[in-house]
Amino acid sequence: MVIEIKNPDNGSLLKKDELMEFYHNHSNLYDLLFKPFFQPRQKKAIGYHDFMPGERILDVGVGTGLSLDLYPSFCEVIGIDLSKSMLRLAERKVEKLGLTNVTLYEMDACNLKFDENSFDYVVATHIVNVVHEPARVIDEMRRVAKPSGSLVIVNHFVSSNPIMAKVENLLEPVFQKVGWRVNHTYEDFIHLTNLSVMHIDKLNKIDLWKIIHASNNKGHC
Ligand SMILES: C[S@@+](CC[C@H](N)C(=O)[O-])C[C@H]1O[C@@H](n2cnc3c(N)ncnc32)[C@H](O)[C@@H]1O
Repeated sequence: MVIEIKNPDNGSLLKKDELMEFYHNHSNLYDLLFKPFFQPRQKKAIGYHDFMPGERILDVGVGTGLSLDLYPSFCEVIGIDLSKSMLRLAERKVEKLGLTNVTLYEMDACNLKFDENSFDYVVATHIVNVVHEPARVIDEMRRVAKPSGSLVIVNHFVSSNPIMAKVENLLEPVFQKVGWRVNHTYEDFIHLTNLSVMHIDKLNKIDLWKIIHASNNKGHC
């Protein structure tokens, strides 16, 4: 499955380097614009889990690191992102907050440079909508998660509620400006990715993003 991201200006594909240029140009504004909307959702998604000391967590598309201090300090946290500029801001947070349990790498979510079965949790918040190959990212997340591991995905799907779908339609030009593609219903996405969903949540009733908690169940699907 390849989900294409349209260029807002000319309708052609927004290429990976264009997407990275967008994040490069806007990284300094990211926390100002998105932290109030994104971090509460991350808090709810991450707060759902009872992490154990020594567990390893991978945060895919960590961005400016809004999630990093939400993980317990007794876990080893690795954050990856393709954008140097976003990572630089994440690095600053790590230093400022003294997060000695966190390591950051520049890496493509479609091609994770980790061995299989490496992580207890693999988390992806607000990234699946922006990558060109969402199914590949999910495959990679499953590959590097332990067979008993968990996947946590925060993503925006086409709403099945007709009123919300209209709101989404109105917001579509805004979403495209930030490289978002919302073209799958939740049901289609689960069918295509074959995720074993354990729990599904939302920040609140009208939130456009869903929080998916899935078990890796490797070898069972
Ligand atoms: C909307 S931001 C989300 C950042 C963070 N997870 C959050 O919730 O605040 C999307 C992030 O995905 C990163 N990204 C986009 N494509 C990527 C890819 N192929 N591999 C790794 N990161 C990618 C961008 O650089 C950006 O930092």
